[in-house]
Amino acid sequence: MAQVIGYVGTSHIPAIGGAIARNLQQDPYWKPFFDGFPAARQWLSLSKPDVVVVFYNDHGLNFFLDKMPTFAVGAANEYANADEGWGLPNFGTYHGYPELSWHIIEQLVTDEFDPMTCQEMKVDHAFTIPLKLLWPEGTAGIRTIPIAINTVQHPLPSARRCYKLGQSVGRALASWPEKQNVLVLGTGGLSHQLDGQRAGFINKSFDLMCLDKLVGHPEQLTGYSGAQLAEIAGTQGVELLNWIAARGALDGQVREVHRNYHIPISNTASALLVLENRPQ
Ligand code: DHB
Ligand code: FE
Repeated sequence: MAQVIGYVGTSHIPAIGGAIARNLQQDPYWKPFFDGFPAARQWLSLSKPDVVVVFYNDHGLNFFLDKMPTFAVGAANEYANADEGWGLPNFGTYHGYPELSWHIIEQLVTDEFDPMTCQEMKVDHAFTIPLKLLWPEGTAGIRTIPIAINTVQHPLPSARRCYKLGQSVGRALASWPEKQNVLVLGTGGLSHQLDGQRAGFINKSFDLMCLDKLVGHPEQLTGYSGAQLAEIAGTQGVELLNWIAARGALDGQVREVHRNYHIPISNTASALLVLENRPQ
């Protein structure tokens, strides 16, 4: 059976990609952010995931407002990055794992989810930047499964719905016959609002509370509707839904390995959380 070895939650702010391209990791503005990652990479080098299931949101690269799935699961052999207009380097192509994707999709439909299934899917900064932060040398030996959650256009799924989605993915992994180590990754957030009257809005106390709850009591975060989260965390802070969904896939004894929180990077409260998941 596949073993979910742990969880990473991280911000996916596009400017991070620009900072990596220009080698600004030691720059005073960027250092407190990048300094969070060596501990995460060290843990990954010991726990050695074979597969990464990425819960993220597409920002108009693959789905636009005219066609917006609430949940979309990649089932392709590979996933290509493409120019989104942020001036970022192209991060290339990621290996897929269609057999496991379809196994996850089967479980989701059995559990009464109705995901869009994507045998062709592009991936944007919300997928590429977290993987670049965790594997700066690239993800050559690692297979990826993108699961996109609509955090862009109302109506948004509730936090509870996203958590249950993650639980269903966790059940699928538990019944996958191959012995593989799986990392679940939730990207985005934490609190931020990029436009409108509250542009620049950040809610530090809410973010810190969420990081605490994600460790040991994630179900206490499931009472929020998408609209309530937009009010509390900012219109883009709803990307927290990706973190909550990924957390649903952990079913063992969860231990915090590492965290980092730094305000602001660009317009966003940046955060990193690494959790280990030991079988019960
Ligand atoms: C920013 C944050 C995001 O989550 C995103 O998708 C785009 C931009 C920002 O803070 O600049
Ligand atoms: Fe985003």
